[in-house]
Amino acid sequence: MILTETELVLWGEEIGREVVPPVVLALRGSLGAGKSVLARAVVRGAGVEGHIPSPTFNLVFRYQGTVADVVHMDLYRIRQPSELEELGWDELGSTEEILLIEWPERAGDRLPADRWDIELRVTDELPGLREISVRRVGSPPRLPSFPIALAPGGR
Ligand SMILES: Nc1ncnc2c1ncn2[C@@H]1O[C@H](COP(=O)(O)OP(=O)(O)O)[C@@H](O)[C@H]1O
Ligand SMILES: [Mg+2]
Repeated sequence: MILTETELVLWGEEIGREVVPPVVLALRGSLGAGKSVLARAVVRGAGVEGHIPSPTFNLVFRYQGTVADVVHMDLYRIRQPSELEELGWDELGSTEEILLIEWPERAGDRLPADRWDIELRVTDELPGLREISVRRVGSPPRLPSFPIALAPGGR
């Protein structure tokens, strides 16, 4: 599916409102692909108001939303999966919260077994659009579908 930033944000907000935690979303894609844009939309959808900082330097942000609690992690600076213990990794993914993980590949085989892998890809010809692919791993709770009705005539 190819989405504009507006469509991606609407989808993320809907995920934050609708998904039934516990749920893990592994956000894959290169620098600038839109992982944080999607993550912040999910956080807002879960009912968190105000400024939502990017976690790149602090690695973990926790939010209490009116709809759901959210943990947003960015593992970019993790060099080996053993560093994850310091972040409280072992307690993650089981409690009633939405867990968003940027750079999930840094966690090696320690990623939670039930999750959605969401990959965002920059397309050369189309600035402002991202190709999104969603893959179910294990048995995560269901996700809202893409907002395909937004573009005139759909896409
Ligand atoms: N369709 C799109 N979806 C998401 N972001 C987009 C899109 N088109 C352009 N962008 C821009 O790409 C950048 C993505 O940044 P960010 O979410 O921080 O990337 P990442 O977290 O993957 O490194 C933002 O500046 C955003 O405005
Ligand atoms: Mg990011």
